[in-house]
Amino acid sequence: MRDALGAVQSVLVLGGASEIALATVRPLIDRRCRTVVLAVRDPESVRSVADALRARGATEVDVVEFDATRHDTHEAVIADVAARHGDIDLAIVAFGVLGDQATFDDDPLAAAAVVDVNYVAAVTAGLALARRIRTQGHGTIVFLSSVAGVRARASNFVYGSSKAGMDAFAQGLGDHLLPSGGRVAVVRPGFVHSRMTEGMPAQPFAVDPDVVGAAVVAGLQEGREIIWAPGVLRYVFAIMRLLPRRVWRIVAAR
Ligand SMILES: NC(=O)c1ccc[n+]([C@@H]2O[C@H](COP(=O)([O-])OP(=O)(O)OC[C@H]3O[C@@H](n4cnc5c(N)ncnc54)[C@H](OP(=O)(O)O)[C@@H]3O)[C@@H](O)[C@H]2O)c1
Repeated sequence: MRDALGAVQSVLVLGGASEIALATVRPLIDRRCRTVVLAVRDPESVRSVADALRARGATEVDVVEFDATRHDTHEAVIADVAARHGDIDLAIVAFGVLGDQATFDDDPLAAAAVVDVNYVAAVTAGLALARRIRTQGHGTIVFLSSVAGVRARASNFVYGSSKAGMDAFAQGLGDHLLPSGGRVAVVRPGFVHSRMTEGMPAQPFAVDPDVVGAAVVAGLQEGREIIWAPGVLRYVFAIMRLLPRRVWRIVAAR
């Protein structure tokens, strides 16, 4: 349950090692969030991360095993978290993979694996979370989408299309959940300096994960359904999505 001042008291992160998600969780702890559950593929890998969150002020930090590609386990993972920690005030769907477009040209199954994580698993996890939220009568789901899904680029259109699918799903789920007391926020970051983009040349408006985390927390407080990070991308993409295709091809290739 949110406390009397509206602060989230518990958060579940699916893809709990995500740098953007952790940069969101830290300011939530500063705002009195006390229970954090990190759902990850390898619990050992986040041992020190969990300790740091405890040191920051979270009273309960739990780590559970979660693999986005094991779709049939999502309901059980979420039910188990709720059974042990009570209501899930906020869930962050943070898992994702970028992949490599050049690889996909020779290996369509590698492309399918990216779509399976970024889109299919977001659907199964999102619907499992929605069931829990309907039972609770309240709760918010944050989906980490991307500007890559707003308009596909030739250089990463498999990733972009998977995020476009996830983005559309999340928006529909938000409308579907509203009468049950649930909320959905779709986050559209641009280029973020994280493990995912390590070694890649930065794109215009590149930011650190903390900037996205702060934007998500502010957006949730303001009740935003779409959160751009940084905020200027909202205006940039209002123009980008209207550019004629041949102009977009030139802009997107830069
Ligand atoms: N970085 C960017 O520029 C950017 C921009 C827009 C949107 N995003 C999106 O933001 C989200 C978080 O990305 P990030 O920048 O924080 O990168 P990140 O630190 O690499 O986080 C991605 C997380 O996804 C997890 N993951 C991948 N496959 C998984 C699976 N099968 N099951 C469970 N977890 C899985 C990874 O877990 P492991 O630790 O086990 O590898 C990793 O913790 C992603 O959805 C990404 O697409 C990122």
